[in-house]
Amino acid sequence: MQAIVLVGGEGTRLRPLTETVPKPALTLVDRPFLAHMIEWLGGHGVTEVVLACGFLPDVLSEALAGEEERAGVAIRYVVEPDRRGTAGAIRFAADELGDRLEDRFLALNGDVLTDLDLTALLGAHREHGAQATLGLHPVEDSSAYGLVRCGDGGEVLEFLEKTGERVPGEINAGMYVLERSVLDLIPPGEEVSIERDVFPRLVGDGLHGLRLDGYWMDIGTPKRYLQASWDILERRVETRVEPTAPGMLVASGAEVARGATVGPRVVLGSGCRVADGAAVRDSVLLDDCTLGEGARVSGSILSAGVEVPAGATLDGAVVGQGERVPA
Ligand code: GDD
Ligand code: MG
Repeated sequence: MQAIVLVGGEGTRLRPLTETVPKPALTLVDRPFLAHMIEWLGGHGVTEVVLACGFLPDVLSEALAGEEERAGVAIRYVVEPDRRGTAGAIRFAADELGDRLEDRFLALNGDVLTDLDLTALLGAHREHGAQATLGLHPVEDSSAYGLVRCGDGGEVLEFLEKTGERVPGEINAGMYVLERSVLDLIPPGEEVSIERDVFPRLVGDGLHGLRLDGYWMDIGTPKRYLQASWDILERRVETRVEPTAPGMLVASGAEVARGATVGPRVVLGSGCRVADGAAVRDSVLLDDCTLGEGARVSGSILSAGVEVPAGATLDGAVVGQGERVPA
């Protein structure tokens, strides 16, 4: 089974973390975000992942070096020459693959941490003889997502992208089983949105949805990125991560002084150093960060190599690579 994964977005809501690293390459706990996703796909029979890239593709391929062997999944990169939108990107990747694209394939948003049952989604698609089947996830506030209403048999009655209305409902989880025939609805070489231009046109014409229960989180904001980290470390989502203590991951190369306080809920990447009297909680420190004596960090995300001077305090901060933290 092949999966086209959309990773062309700029990750604007995670800036400055995503200024130098594209969202899918950003470390989530102990590996690039996309590695979690590729491992999940591999667990559901995906043998080839096609990454539809637009932004900083080289950083992404570097971050994923070795992942093919680890996950047992082939990874191929296609790079759009200009912005194509979610459907345009699928069409572009499909055209690049040509005859190598199978008649039925998966397409996914590349910014969701999940353990939903893709095998069940494929089963429902087959059973209904659908053209497209959408994985759905229930939420309390659907305003920022695609809201999907289905009939009793799973046929989609309505697809409404980002209504802005804070109503509960089943949303588009950003995972689709597609037949090749769907590609005919996407004009080549143009910017086309699958949510606004394609799914609404497929309503009543073989568009199905299946509610999947399990863990699902779009990691696209600092708040959700942190929550996803704690969910991994507190095992609310199935991943391959091995926490070093409940809710914690302190990489083997990290140095913590005796008089420092680390936790609860902390990720310390390798090469991090926490000096005497410093305290860090509810925070992610990527590789090679340093906390000086008496520094206090909470609810924050620090890019690789950030230095927090002695006595400084950070609360709810998101610090990009190379940014200076005032004393
Ligand atoms: N290759 C490529 N090219 N990828 C793109 C492009 C593009 O032009 N535009 C967006 N993407 C990728 C993003 O990188 C992301 O992985 C995915 O497509 C979805 O884009 P977002 O910008 O993150 O969309 P969203 O989160 O606001 O909404 C989408 O996801 C929701 C679930 O998280 C929609 O699909 C909603 O319907 C859905 O509910
Ligand atoms: Mg998103």
